[in-house]
Amino acid sequence: MRIDVLNGVNLNLLGRRDQSVYGAQSIHDLETQVYAWARELDLQVRCRQTNHEGEYVGFLHQALGTADALIVNPGAWTHYSWAIRDALEPFTAPFVEVHLSNVDEREEWRRHSVLTGLGGMRVVGKGFEGYREALGLLAERRT
Ligand code: DQA
Repeated sequence: MRIDVLNGVNLNLLGRRDQSVYGAQSIHDLETQVYAWARELDLQVRCRQTNHEGEYVGFLHQALGTADALIVNPGAWTHYSWAIRDALEPFTAPFVEVHLSNVDEREEWRRHSVLTGLGGMRVVGKGFEGYREALGLLAERRT
């Protein structure tokens, strides 16, 4: 099972953002963990990150032909980018929306996700472990 893990805007600053919310570790640490967890589960993972919305949309378009599942954390785009919703909409395979922080219990504007209603699974507020949980959920759906 090929899984793209797509991290969006500002997630490259992990470790330098508010550590009480996002922790002290870097995106490199996160991706290293994700690759290790994927190996344990015998999943083929590719981690990508960008701060450019159009590039993120391009990652989603590429995933249409190449990935069997997705883990997406679009960062702040989650809350307002209809372009990202539209790009994910044709993806019929399973996906998990992950947020490190508990977006449902932070500021009002973070409580809305443009991905709502697309049929994805969701893991929020579990830090890096959320990505592990997402990999596990996708592994369960392996055919
Ligand atoms: C985030 C939550 C978003 O609200 C925020 O803009 C981020 C990170 C998370 O992983 O908790 O950049 O997606």
